[in-house]
Amino acid sequence: MNRKEFVKNLSFSCVGGTAVSALLQSCATTSYFAQNVLSNNTLSVRKAEFMKVENDKTIRRKYVLVKTDAYNFPICIFKIGEDSYSALLLECTHKGCELKPHGDYLSCPCHGSEFSNLGIVQNPPAEENLKTFQTRTDNENIYISL
Ligand code: FES
Repeated sequence: MNRKEFVKNLSFSCVGGTAVSALLQSCATTSYFAQNVLSNNTLSVRKAEFMKVENDKTIRRKYVLVKTDAYNFPICIFKIGEDSYSALLLECTHKGCELKPHGDYLSCPCHGSEFSNLGIVQNPPAEENLKTFQTRTDNENIYISL
């Protein structure tokens, strides 16, 4: 390998390394999957799952995801009030793609539908609202009836 080829390969390596690093950083900020317990067709998730500590500061998550064997898609739990939550199945009602949460709404990567944090269609092509689950709380937990 001559000097020119060496420099060219080194440049590609640097660009590739930067791209991989950026990709890994973006993955690190993706959605958080909360621990949960399934009992009598009810999922329980600790409210503390909505808190995270970053640089000695406690930050509230707007939503967490949970996986359950009962569904092929995750369930997204949004905190929508002081002690109220919505729980939505992340299956797009248009053609069944998995939705992506963004703060207080959901978008579909397949054809661009958007839904509110209550599961209501905001932008087509989807026409039906998302499947939602009843939620209730006590001092420590959120309970989702499947
Ligand atoms: S599958 Fe979601 S918009 Fe088409």
